[in-house]
Amino acid sequence: MKILVTGGCGFIGSAFILQQLSLGRTVLNLDVLSYAGNPENLYSAACSPNYYFAHGDIGDRVLVSGLLQEFRPDAIVNFAAETHVDRSIVDPTPFFKTNANGTASLLVETLNWWKELPKAQRESFRFLHISTDEVFGSLSSGEAAFSEESPYRPRSPYSASKAAADFYVRSFHETYGLPTLITNCSNNYGPRQYPEKFIPLLIINALQGKRLPIYGNGTNMRDWLYVEDHCQAIDTVLTRSCPGETYNIGGNCEKSNLDIAYAVTGMLDEIKPRADGRSYSDQIAFVKDRPGHDFRYAINAEKIRRDFGWKPTHSLASGLHDTISWYLANDGWLETIQSRSYKDWYELNYAEPRFEDEK
Ligand code: NAD
Ligand code: TYD
Repeated sequence: MKILVTGGCGFIGSAFILQQLSLGRTVLNLDVLSYAGNPENLYSAACSPNYYFAHGDIGDRVLVSGLLQEFRPDAIVNFAAETHVDRSIVDPTPFFKTNANGTASLLVETLNWWKELPKAQRESFRFLHISTDEVFGSLSSGEAAFSEESPYRPRSPYSASKAAADFYVRSFHETYGLPTLITNCSNNYGPRQYPEKFIPLLIINALQGKRLPIYGNGTNMRDWLYVEDHCQAIDTVLTRSCPGETYNIGGNCEKSNLDIAYAVTGMLDEIKPRADGRSYSDQIAFVKDRPGHDFRYAINAEKIRRDFGWKPTHSLASGLHDTISWYLANDGWLETIQSRSYKDWYELNYAEPRFEDEK
């Protein structure tokens, strides 16, 4: 099986590529190498004879058309996106460009190429689009978790741009018969996640003696899934489901942000105690809330469990343990990240009045 993966130098895409190579699949990775794209994430894949890399944008139609003619994939898995809600609030433009327009261009070029394939290949081809639970909007405390039938109610520029892409993908199946699939997953965590996101930010700030910023009062809820479990679910949907289907994927692990902060600091206290013997939780600090902050996401993953028997294999404790251990063992990776645009972002997002005395 030959797979064109887009955005494979990012957090989830790189985990997916490593998994696919271990299964003997051939992968072409198309990545523009934005601030979040890090070729070091695929260091161990670089010498595989089954791994190819193309540097470029999913919105570059000439490039995409050429890659399709040459590589002739059996499937495309589209991870490429701008992914950080806080950045989408500061500047939504790149989100509309890549997540909405980029996906639309990728679909058009895929359709043009796919139409000319022999019938058997047309039928077996799959275009799997990786989406998020955030397209469904925000839940209140007692509300039922999102199912595949939940209405789309995006509330941030990020989730709106992802929702637009989902609609384009769905329309190409309904209108042209392109064999598309969509997965809507909850919050991921694990090795190689860019430290602008909550869990790696907590780990890194704790170890660096900085404060741990909790937006608002810390009661916002997320449903956390270890990245390898997500990749397993993607592979299952890719290889076993019918064209046109959508699947929700979640960890069945709803936690408040404050719960997560205590889980991370508690585990760090055990694995790498602070020199002064105090708990890392002393570093927790409440800061000004994110505008329009979605209160709660929760996924009902009953459909993928019922159809294929998929369920997460990592508990929060085992997933956090593996994640923290990875960050502790890979300080070189972190140094590269922090010497790039991360520092500028950190200074912008956590400057006063969020952390008034940390200047
Ligand atoms: P990430 O930000 O770590 O990586 C994104 C990758 O896409 C980077 O390698 C970047 O260089 C690449 N990219 C960006 N724009 C591109 C373009 N125009 N052309 C080609 N490549 C481009 O993201 P992630 O956390 O790995 O998320 C991957 C996908 O999964 C996204 O579509 C995201 O919406 C979705 N998702 C993420 C989560 C999560 O918790 N991280 C949860 C559900 C869904
Ligand atoms: P994040 O990792 O940005 O993912 P998303 O917003 O897509 O769910 O944030 C997860 C949760 O953590 C979210 O409720 C916002 C919160 N958060 C903080 O409290 N402090 C932070 O510094 C960050 C980055 C996030």
